[in-house]
Amino acid sequence: MRSTTSRPTSLLTTACPRRWPRWIVASRFSEWPRPDSSPFRWAKPAVPPTGWFEASAVPNDYAASYERNFGFFKDYSREALFLDHVFKTYGTDVARVLDIACGPGNHIVELARMGYRAAAADIDPAMLARTQGAAAEHGMTIETHVADLRNFRLSGRFDAALNMFYSFQNVLFAPHQQLSFFQSVAALLRPGGLFIIELMPEENNLRLYPPGESFVTHRAVQEDGSTLTVTSTSRIVDETKKDIVFFYETVLPDGSFEHEELISPIRRVYLAQFEALCRAAGLVQVAAFGACDSDVPFTDDSAKLVAVLEKA
Ligand SMILES: C[S@@+](CC[C@H](N)C(=O)[O-])C[C@H]1O[C@@H](n2cnc3c(N)ncnc32)[C@H](O)[C@@H]1O
Repeated sequence: MRSTTSRPTSLLTTACPRRWPRWIVASRFSEWPRPDSSPFRWAKPAVPPTGWFEASAVPNDYAASYERNFGFFKDYSREALFLDHVFKTYGTDVARVLDIACGPGNHIVELARMGYRAAAADIDPAMLARTQGAAAEHGMTIETHVADLRNFRLSGRFDAALNMFYSFQNVLFAPHQQLSFFQSVAALLRPGGLFIIELMPEENNLRLYPPGESFVTHRAVQEDGSTLTVTSTSRIVDETKKDIVFFYETVLPDGSFEHEELISPIRRVYLAQFEALCRAAGLVQVAAFGACDSDVPFTDDSAKLVAVLEKA
């Protein structure tokens, strides 16, 4: 058995032919790192991260490795169809859509392809460059803005806004930051405009994924016969915060294996807190899904809530 920082280049090559980034390092279930306020952490940082997204501390290749690390968790084309359905079902004349914390633009580019006037915001210029690049591949341009959720100030008027993949829970840890963010989004929406936000309700997750227990979230056999298994576990930090730890383990055809870990700090948000935030920002919940799928209603057994909020 061996454990190294590199991965076979044949793994997930179509998604991303690059090596695993420096910020995911091999670990044999080693000592947990100390909590800090950054959205993700290195398991064993070569240089201790300060503010994760401050330009100097952006993890190496985060944007470039996004698809490989996270892309397989989601079917973005299907999710964009779901968003289109939501706009048509719960909105009126939705034309201009803003994706906040857009990442490499997987949702917003699909929506632009459907004819929506698309805009995207993210703190990481490399993510915005990827979004523009993906749009350009389809002969389109997307308006992009560098923006920080922690001090979210954008001008414009939108018919709908998105904040997908739990982004606000990764970034906004103080209640006043959350409220300010929700209010800023509401201010960008016209009356009747929609805000679609994806979150992990804490009460459901505590029950479905008890802290300390490990769950397989993904398993796939790769072209070279290697098997990639992603497991996740959570660890409570305090009343407001927990870490979700992902282990990426590859069993190679010769029986050896490699594993790496990624730690994602999460603000614990209970449903009552979320509802209070919405109320305070003048946003009314008009629908609740348990997945980005209009056939999946939100229930006590849903690990995620995809909330459709309307500006009153
Ligand atoms: C988990 S990704 C979600 C991307 C996309 N929404 C999706 O569904 O794939 C989180 C995104 O949040 C961005 N981000 C992290 N901190 C941020 C901040 N303080 N302000 C704005 N965006 C931030 C990252 O650059 C990254 O693109």
